Amino acid sequence: MNYERSKLYLKERGQEHLLNYYNELTEEEQAVLLKDIEDTNFSVLKRLDKSTKKTGKISPVSAVTVQDIQRRRLQFESVGLNFLREGKVAAVLLAGGQGSRLGYEGPKGTFDMGVTRKLSIFELQMNNLISVAEKAGRHIHLFVMTSVQNNDETVKFFEENNYFGYPHDLIHFFIQDVAPTCDFDGKVFLDKKNRVSLAPNGNGGWYSSLVNSGLARVMERENIEWLNVYGVDNVLQKMCDPAFIGATVLKQCRCGAKVVSKISAEEKVGVICCEDGKPTVLEYFEMPERLKTKTRKGELVYRFGVTLNYLFNVNDLNLTLSGRLPYHLAEKAIPHVENGERIIPQQPCGYKLETLVVDMIKLMGSCLAYEVERDKEFAPVKNLTGVDSVETARELLIKNGIKL
Ligand code: UTP
Repeated sequence: MNYERSKLYLKERGQEHLLNYYNELTEEEQAVLLKDIEDTNFSVLKRLDKSTKKTGKISPVSAVTVQDIQRRRLQFESVGLNFLREGKVAAVLLAGGQGSRLGYEGPKGTFDMGVTRKLSIFELQMNNLISVAEKAGRHIHLFVMTSVQNNDETVKFFEENNYFGYPHDLIHFFIQDVAPTCDFDGKVFLDKKNRVSLAPNGNGGWYSSLVNSGLARVMERENIEWLNVYGVDNVLQKMCDPAFIGATVLKQCRCGAKVVSKISAEEKVGVICCEDGKPTVLEYFEMPERLKTKTRKGELVYRFGVTLNYLFNVNDLNLTLSGRLPYHLAEKAIPHVENGERIIPQQPCGYKLETLVVDMIKLMGSCLAYEVERDKEFAPVKNLTGVDSVETARELLIKNGIKL
């Protein structure tokens, strides 16, 4: 696209300010800017979901509880192990986040949880994947989603650690798609005078990014039918859990979600429930107070918090999704060019546009809520100290017999 066409193209989209500094740039820089403009997906600005309120009728979901699982573990596991043995399930690690709350420079997975020895989050998670592969008697394909910002460092870390003893041809890295960032009026930011400001498009971007990266061909070649998606920040993450897979298949659900019982009504986790009879996840800030605190027989009615560990059927993903996820606005402090200077704001100054994996649940139409013991499977590392922190996660690791 040349300058004139670019100007017209931006005008039609209300973004012509992106060319404000064009005349100050070298020829090379001008070419970079025009290419950035051509490559940027401005249409996502039209898919913004500004609503925070759910409008439908909210009701509780019934879950397969810890007690149910204890009773039927052998049956669930044997089905799940068969699926793993036949190579029908792959793991998808979401590691494209920016981890800003942790305030750590590198990719979150490289964070050292060890005290007397080195023990990264990636290593902890890979150890769990190795255990389940041993139990199934077969290695499992692992897709790792990174971001433009952390991809090289992540790949290098896996290489330097000899892929944690896992066959490296079964580990497939892919970079998450990006979306433009914008100010509160929807005007896209410039990161530099000749660069459009872009950021990873949220954890809901995983499936379209996987497909866009060309890895769907691996899934087809290997006849992978289910994808177990999980976040990097749970250091007790149990992925590809045979009982979870078996339960989801036996209950004939199109997806499954590992959930934990909330510790209190105020705990800040998304809760799985039904909206107009369909499974959905309400974020803690979306949940009306009256529902949040509602109890029956001394238990919270809406108590199943999601842990970012989901099992999705690939066929159903292909049928239901194809880019229909809404974009949410996340208020963030975004470095950008203002009045000719690049500024690094300390306070939110605009939005990152994020798709959310929880929105996929609603699109799937049916979802098994599968309750796991939180002390054994849920140790999120969001902050350095306090709630969901390195401190609390270390305590839980020790409680689970892991030497730090
Ligand atoms: P969070 O919602 O905690 O976001 O991610 P974050 O960016 O890692 O951390 P903060 O909010 O800046 O502190 C939950 C999971 O989703 C992944 C993260 O890597 C983590 O595993 N994620 C998040 C992505 O893969 N891509 C994204 O764009 C956002």
